Amino acid sequence: MNWGFIGFGRIARKFLESLNAVEHEVPYAFASRSNAGALQKEFPEVRVYSSYADILADADIDIVYISTTHNFHCQNVIDALNAGKHVLCEKPIGVSSDEVVKMTLAAKSNDKFLMEAMWMRFLPAYREVIAKIKAGEIGQVKYMTASFGFRSEDKLTQDGRLLNPELAGGALYDVGVYPLTIVSDMFGWKPVDFKAHAIKSDTGVDETIQIQLDFGQDRMAQVVGSITMNTNKEACIYGEKGFVRIPMFWKSESYEVVKGDDVEVFYAPMISTGYAHEIMEVSKCIKQGKTESELFTLNDSLMSAKLVESILSTIFK
Ligand SMILES: NC(=O)c1ccc[n+]([C@@H]2O[C@H](COP(=O)([O-])OP(=O)(O)OC[C@H]3O[C@@H](n4cnc5c(N)ncnc54)[C@H](OP(=O)(O)O)[C@@H]3O)[C@@H](O)[C@H]2O)c1
Repeated sequence: MNWGFIGFGRIARKFLESLNAVEHEVPYAFASRSNAGALQKEFPEVRVYSSYADILADADIDIVYISTTHNFHCQNVIDALNAGKHVLCEKPIGVSSDEVVKMTLAAKSNDKFLMEAMWMRFLPAYREVIAKIKAGEIGQVKYMTASFGFRSEDKLTQDGRLLNPELAGGALYDVGVYPLTIVSDMFGWKPVDFKAHAIKSDTGVDETIQIQLDFGQDRMAQVVGSITMNTNKEACIYGEKGFVRIPMFWKSESYEVVKGDDVEVFYAPMISTGYAHEIMEVSKCIKQGKTESELFTLNDSLMSAKLVESILSTIFK
């Protein structure tokens, strides 16, 4: 398929590396409102547009990858679907459940594929872990922790998106959605209760957030997200017979199964920068005429947005 990129910042470059690693998938055109001239020089073989409307009018593009800031996703997605393109949009696809409903309706009415780019769900190591746990490897799961916190000085500048409320910055939108997603793989998206606490930035977003979730039936989870603090960046899933530890769980290539004092380490490398796995899934679904992936459905996006929304409503009352 011919891919068009809407927005061309940090993640677009890493995504491009993976796209180049997947057979039959072509980086065909890029649109950047801020950097089109320099991009055209850097990528002379690619069509470069300085307007998002112009890339969407390009009839040779089959699918659009959206990696703008969170506040723009909904409009960019709907415009792309209405222009007749399939869409893969970076996480979080929407900053409210209303937005996800609108995007889903646009996908259905245009009969086009739409997926949130929750790439973690497609990684071989991650899939292996989930399959093993579901098959009873560590017995019934009662508790889990997942933490994703990083600090990158060059991303915390005034013009950066992370701490900017107008660009929908904040830890929960930016990184917290990963731990919530791995929790959903164990316990679903609907806790019976939760308590959230946040350290707020001077700009008024959650820079660090901690959430304790109660899923009933003696099942609990603890989640941490931060954009100003490096945390241990691992997920641990505890069952009655042992536990699984996944270092760097959102970009996992290995994991440990621990039973008593025995530690067994498993490796399952990713292709290229890791986005190749979601790209292959998207391509497979579209070839099969599907409008969503069973591995990360539009309902997953909706449930994730609802949970994020209700957590943020307790932080920013
Ligand atoms: N899947 C992953 O592993 C991963 C990793 C990092 C980020 N992400 C997600 O990818 C998306 C983009 O993240 P990023 O780190 O690539 O962001 P970024 O480099 O800061 O910005 C991406 C693009 O957003 C537009 N943009 C940035 N600041 C803007 C502003 N002040 N006003 C208007 N437009 C602005 C620009 O589009 P133009 O090029 O058109 O100017 C820019 O190229 C987010 O949804 C983020 O959560 C995903």
